[in-house]
Amino acid sequence: MSFLTLSHIKKAFGPVQVVHDFNMSIEKGEFVSFLGPSGCGKTTILRMIAGFETPSDGSIVINGKDQTSLKPNQRNIGMVFQAYALFPNMNVFDNVAFGLKVAGKPKAEIKARVEEMLKLIHLEHLADRYPYQMSGGQQQRVALARALAPAPQVLLLDEPLSALDAKIRVSLREEIRQIQRQLGITTVFVTHDQEEALSISDRIVVMNAGKADQIGTPSEIYSKPTTRFVANFVGTLNVVEAQVREPASGVVSIADHVLVLPKPIDGKKAGDKVSLAFRPEAASMVTASSAITLKGTVLSSHFLGSVVRTKVNAQGNIIAFDAFNDPNVPPPISGQSVAIHLNPEGLMLLGE
Ligand SMILES: Nc1ncnc2c1ncn2[C@@H]1O[C@H](COP(=O)(O)OP(=O)(O)OP(=O)(O)O)[C@@H](O)[C@H]1O
Ligand SMILES: [Mg+2]
Repeated sequence: MSFLTLSHIKKAFGPVQVVHDFNMSIEKGEFVSFLGPSGCGKTTILRMIAGFETPSDGSIVINGKDQTSLKPNQRNIGMVFQAYALFPNMNVFDNVAFGLKVAGKPKAEIKARVEEMLKLIHLEHLADRYPYQMSGGQQQRVALARALAPAPQVLLLDEPLSALDAKIRVSLREEIRQIQRQLGITTVFVTHDQEEALSISDRIVVMNAGKADQIGTPSEIYSKPTTRFVANFVGTLNVVEAQVREPASGVVSIADHVLVLPKPIDGKKAGDKVSLAFRPEAASMVTASSAITLKGTVLSSHFLGSVVRTKVNAQGNIIAFDAFNDPNVPPPISGQSVAIHLNPEGLMLLGE
């Protein structure tokens, strides 16, 4: 049963419609990421869940109770923001204790709970420090402990890692996920970093201009994107032009290869062009029996450590693919003529 339900949420600021009919059901204990470009409405939806903004239309229900007209302090929701939002004049202990003090909890209970939270984020030894005496990663862990201390029913994280450097981002996102699992707390995490969303989420909502383009598991979003926007936004995408032969039975051709797509091609007739997309891992320079072979010229080859990424121009289609770095095999050279083999199972028909 759904724990957090957003139904037909709309939000306008003056004449500008920022969120259009947003719908989503989140299960108890689920970790859901909102992924989308800047300005698509991620923070606005989070702020509506928290009660800092009121939807122009629609409802927000948590655990069977309508929250839409409740004030933020009546919702029992924890929130961590992108910028370090700790109280600068309070030490770590007092920051984490803040929500519990406001709720009027007894002193002994507050102390025990704060100690438990500091243990959870492995900062028991820094209880007396002030925010200016800590690294960004430590401050965000304290912000997380502060949000979790009152045992909120939902945790909202708005790009909590974006101000941190790459290594800390990765370790802290894993720590957040591990704590979230341990507590079983229903969590909405906002990011515009696709790798972050793919690596830690149960489900991802890919947002585009105020609406959810696709909601699915990381693997569904990556491997079965349902719109061109999602396909382009998540992961590297190659596109080749194909010619429709028999639209009703999904038959198309790429160069001289005829293949049957799993679905009929709606709205097209024989001779029309369609775009087929595929991920880098569906292409390689190694022959496979079922593969579609395209001839091309190497445009560039970049050494990325464990893999080499090569870009090839195959009759006007630019194809990027990766090969594991083999020190005994020199990387392809620009201008070299090569054959690229595509795995037909990796081809996706792109809609509009
Ligand atoms: N209080 C406000 N008044 C007017 N417009 C607003 C307000 N808050 C947000 N907006 C507008 O709503 C749109 C969505 O903003 P929002 O902050 O939700 O985007 P976002 O997806 O979180 O982007 P980012 O990734 O940059 O944080 C933007 O065009 C923004 O300018
Ligand atoms: Mg935002």
